[in-house]
Order: sequence, then structure tokens, then C-alpha cells
Amino acid sequence: MRRPIVAGNWKMHGTRADNARLIEALLAGHPDRALAECLVFPPFVYLQDVGRLVRDTPIELGAQNVCAEARGAFTGEVSASMLQDVGCRYVLVGHSERRWIYHEDDQLVARKFAAAQAKSLVPILCVGEHLWDRENGRTEEVVARQLDVVLELCGVGALESGVIAYEPMWAIGTGRTATPEQAQAVHAFIRERIAKRDAKMGESTRVLYGGSVKASNAAELFAQPDVDGGLIGGASLNAEEFLAILAACGLR
Ligand code: 13P
Repeated sequence: MRRPIVAGNWKMHGTRADNARLIEALLAGHPDRALAECLVFPPFVYLQDVGRLVRDTPIELGAQNVCAEARGAFTGEVSASMLQDVGCRYVLVGHSERRWIYHEDDQLVARKFAAAQAKSLVPILCVGEHLWDRENGRTEEVVARQLDVVLELCGVGALESGVIAYEPMWAIGTGRTATPEQAQAVHAFIRERIAKRDAKMGESTRVLYGGSVKASNAAELFAQPDVDGGLIGGASLNAEEFLAILAACGLR
């Protein structure tokens, strides 16, 4: 049985006061650990602050990015051990905004995945195609390439403590969600791709969907057999929406 995850990627939003209000409202809604793991990914500068607010609560902490190097002269970067040190358990790697805006390539993303695991963080590997890839029938090719580079570098066994998030780039922040059928098809493809290397790992790896998930569409997405929860952007900044998305896990 794969335990669902509902993760809020706050991206570059919020202030200390906003964060405190958001966490307070989330906790007031009693997020149910039994329904899903509930994670938040604040910007780096707020990790410690938010970490304090969620300590000993059902909400867990993650970071939006990590440096592939362990330490050294890498101005502006943050290492996996630093994230560990401030209480993170999870980290996003290869978010499409990192790949597309900051030119992170598959190799770098794979090295970040490895760097995170080396410090016992659970990496959430984001994969997903551009609209033009989809329109040219290349969705599976793109997703397979993004996934395979990580499996080559880290080995399929690394998924024992890793998570995949399928986030079609045309659905991120656009209000245009993949249909449940579109999401399910790619999730099943990802699972099969993993299963080709290790059947058990194909079955047990959690694959989240991200891209314009809201309270109004979460239940139908999460009802798909290979969708194990969501990575939520915009809607995670609103406690009521985020709690409703979490509750949608209970309807699976
Ligand atoms: P939106 O939910 O705002 O589309 O963002 C999705 C995302 O990029 C989560 O990582």
C-alpha cells in the first residue's frame, strides 16, 4: 500500500507573517496523518522558522532545491547537510522551473538526487514535458529520459527512499490541469519504466501529480490507481484549499 503525499511547494512566495498564519490555519484544520503525509516546502530563508512552527505536528518540512556538491566555494548554494541540519526531511530536485529557467540539466538533477540521499533527505524527483513535447507525441520519451538518468546514476534501489512527481509543464500555474486520464497514463508509464528494472520498486514507488491541482479537481486525480497524491503550487498557499486537497486523499 503506497501512502499518499500532499506537498505544498510555496515557491518564492510569502513573508514570515504569512507563513505563520498559513501554518497556524493548517494546524487548526488538524491535517490527518492517516490520510496522507503532509509536507510544506518554504523558501530557504524561512526553513528554520517554519521548521519550528511544524515541529511535533503532522506537517513535515522540505526544501525546494539543493546543491549537488557537499560543501565548498559555491556562492549562493545550500547543501544537503545544511538542509538536514535545519530539520528538512524532503527536498525537491529537478522542478521544471529549475530545469527551464535556471537551465538545470538531467545530469545535474541526478547528482542533486544523489547528494540529497547521501544526507538521508528524501528527494522528490520532478519530471514532466513541455506542451510542444506533448503535441509532438514525445511525452513518454522526455519523461523516460529524465527518469533514466537518475536511475542510471543512483540505481533503481535509490527509489526505496525517493519519490517521483509528474508535473507537465503546460499545467503548472496555468489553471490547465491534466485530465485524470492523461495523468494516469503517464503515471502508469513511469511505474512500468521503474518496474522494468525492479518490479517491486515499480509497485512501491510513490508518484505524485502536480500542475494546477485544486480542491475542485484533487479527488478525481487522486482516484487514479497510479496517482499517489499531489505536489501543489498556488493552491498550497491557501490553507482551506490545501486542507481540502489533503481531505481528497481520504476519498480514494
Ligand atoms: P501549480 O499548482 O501552481 O500549478 O504549481 C505546480 C507546481 O509546480 C508544484 O511544484
